[in-house]
Amino acid sequence: MRTPIIGGNWKMNLNAGDGADLAESIAEGLARGPLGAEVVMFPAFPYLALIADVVESTPPMLGAQDAHQEASGAFTGEVSLPMLEDCGVEWVLVGHSERRHVIGESNEIVREKLHAALNAGFSVILCTGELKEERESGRQLEVNRAQLAHALEGLPAAALSRLVIAYEPVWAIGTGLTATPEDAQEVHADLRAALAEHYDQGVADAVRIQYGGSVKPANAAELFAKPDVDGFLVGGASLKSADFLDIINAVTAAKAEGQA
Ligand code: PGA
Repeated sequence: MRTPIIGGNWKMNLNAGDGADLAESIAEGLARGPLGAEVVMFPAFPYLALIADVVESTPPMLGAQDAHQEASGAFTGEVSLPMLEDCGVEWVLVGHSERRHVIGESNEIVREKLHAALNAGFSVILCTGELKEERESGRQLEVNRAQLAHALEGLPAAALSRLVIAYEPVWAIGTGLTATPEDAQEVHADLRAALAEHYDQGVADAVRIQYGGSVKPANAAELFAKPDVDGFLVGGASLKSADFLDIINAVTAAKAEGQA
């Protein structure tokens, strides 16, 4: 059975004090247990080392929202994977829709970043997702498959043990619109089928696929009830400890029920 995984993507939000408070209250909340999921928090670059201290030897793991594909060099303003390692980072987010569609990262850059992060020993959440007009024209499976295929090109099966995929329909991110559980399940199942075609069924069955896009305590349980939804990547609701903990608790409760 796949261990559920929940990420909190803080994006370009919170200052040092508020971030440390949030991390602390999440760590405290998780310590009250039981905890049926892995939890990763993604603060902004300047606060990674600070938050690493706050969550040291507690369950939440630390992730970075992006990383440059080169280890060092003349890349003004960028942050490298060795620098992230120094800050105590274990996870890297690659190909978030805001990087693809706002910053302009191509499929090729996403692929380079994914391979660099996995080669450097990090665990990665790779995001895919279709735009509103792509869904309206019924192209959601094709678009997500194409993004996944580009990113995985040349990646050996062994590397996938440190890979999580996040299906994040762009039209659902930060909009309050959530994919229905059926919409999410359709894409998740198709991404898993694509993994089985690229690799084999065993690999496909082991990779965790998160849903992201306006996840909140009120919709987490019904989305998680779908067989190919293995957790969430949460933006807005991860900035409030009560909401984020409620989402984690909903997943923990559903997992316990499934095992009972
Ligand atoms: P949201 O963001 O939960 O605020 O929609 C999700 C994400 O961008 O990962």
